[in-house]
Amino acid sequence: MLWEKGTKIQVKIEDISDTGEGIGKTDGFTWFVKDAVIGDLVEAKVMKTKKSYGFARLEQVLEPSPHRVLPPCPVARSCGGCQLQAMDYEEQARFKENKVFNNLLRIGGIDCKELFEPMIKMDNPWHYRNKAQFPVGKNKEGKIITGFYAGRTHTIIECEDCLIGVPENARILNCIRTYMEEYGILPYDEETNTGMVRHILIRKGFQTGQIMVCLVINGPTEQMRGSEVLVKRLTALFDKTGPENTPQLTTIACSINQEKTNVIMGKELVNLYGPGVIIDWIGPVQYRISPLSFYQVNPVQTQRLYETALEYAELTGTETVWDLYCGIGTITLFLARKAKKVYGVEIIPQAIEDACANAKLNGIENVEFFTGKAEEVLPEQFESNPVPVDVIVVDPPRKGCDARCLETIIAMEPKRIVYISCDSATLARDLKVLGEHGYEVARGRMVDMFPWSIHIECVVGMQRKHI
Ligand SMILES: C[S@@+](CC[C@H](N)C(=O)[O-])C[C@H]1O[C@@H](n2cnc3c(N)ncnc32)[C@H](O)[C@@H]1O
Repeated sequence: MLWEKGTKIQVKIEDISDTGEGIGKTDGFTWFVKDAVIGDLVEAKVMKTKKSYGFARLEQVLEPSPHRVLPPCPVARSCGGCQLQAMDYEEQARFKENKVFNNLLRIGGIDCKELFEPMIKMDNPWHYRNKAQFPVGKNKEGKIITGFYAGRTHTIIECEDCLIGVPENARILNCIRTYMEEYGILPYDEETNTGMVRHILIRKGFQTGQIMVCLVINGPTEQMRGSEVLVKRLTALFDKTGPENTPQLTTIACSINQEKTNVIMGKELVNLYGPGVIIDWIGPVQYRISPLSFYQVNPVQTQRLYETALEYAELTGTETVWDLYCGIGTITLFLARKAKKVYGVEIIPQAIEDACANAKLNGIENVEFFTGKAEEVLPEQFESNPVPVDVIVVDPPRKGCDARCLETIIAMEPKRIVYISCDSATLARDLKVLGEHGYEVARGRMVDMFPWSIHIECVVGMQRKHI
């Protein structure tokens, strides 16, 4: 059947895609409808069609799903950051669980539903993000605005109080916008590569209350007229006399980015106030976080994720452990408190610098870090120093582990493998390979690190089979 652009169709939504669109069928033809929820009967307008599927825009919900809720955020639809805000939290969890189990079965051939413990959900799934990056621009009236890019565009959706960000963001953004208006500091214009302030990065240590503000600017800091006034105003925003973890603005920095690029942060950092880093704790381990450091964005759930990984590693204090894709050593340091020795591997040199600094900060000495690709460092180390290894923990990016990395893990014969994954499709692919080489899933757990988004984190514990 031919579907003209603009045709109205009725679709019953049966699933959600990997990018958050509702999925339904008419006469065997698959439709993707953004903002539709599983169980909705919707009227949608055809936008684009391919051979066997098409995209349609939600016009009206004819019969709402029993799980449809009114998104509490006024810009939920246009912003695109929270793809599942119109679905109640319990249903989101069910959807994420199904997605993971389906992928494990379909891609990995692994039926392990009964080995999984219940998902670790959030008691209060709001205001959980410790980091936000707000683009700065102007609206049609020429007023300076801050917000988020609308999904897949560079149109700024004005938003002062994102419901998954910390409440302090709104006051900080307001203070910076007022300063910019008063001092004639212009927002960056990416069309002409002119103007000054491109983004505002805000990070908060949930345990310490320390807040960092980093302005990404298109020029040297000397061009930020009145920056000393901005510093004074920002640091006066929060009460300094409250209890220990009362929010405190402790660091203000500028990142200079004069490139015509989509990359947010520039290469040069200039500190305007404070030590240039904030400190936060995850459980008993403290971390130094710079504007450039990778640090998990949901600290409440990160602690639960790391505790689960630690539990699955079954450490007694005598084990040798590898932590592959270790970032700034967050899991490495968690594991090191219960192991004899932990080796961390990470591709980004600056993250390894942070990892070493964090080890020192915590007085942890039984760790060693390597900079490089896991698929190169691990085989090299295994060849030059083939000491027995008890546990290997992996936490790769979405694309999963490289084949050479998996081969070496198998050759090293650890007793246990703990796989932390943010993409259940590549997790399933890699577990299949490990399963074909003597490892079986012993237990697993999902941790909801990103409520209202389609993403879900998984921890899987594998044991070497006795052959
Ligand atoms: C999902 S993050 C995990 C970071 C860390 N485990 C944590 O919890 O904060 C994945 C990390 O793998 C790193 N990475 C990506 N490809 C890599 C590779 N081939 N070898 C080693 N590290 C890699 C990334 O830079 C990133 O820090």
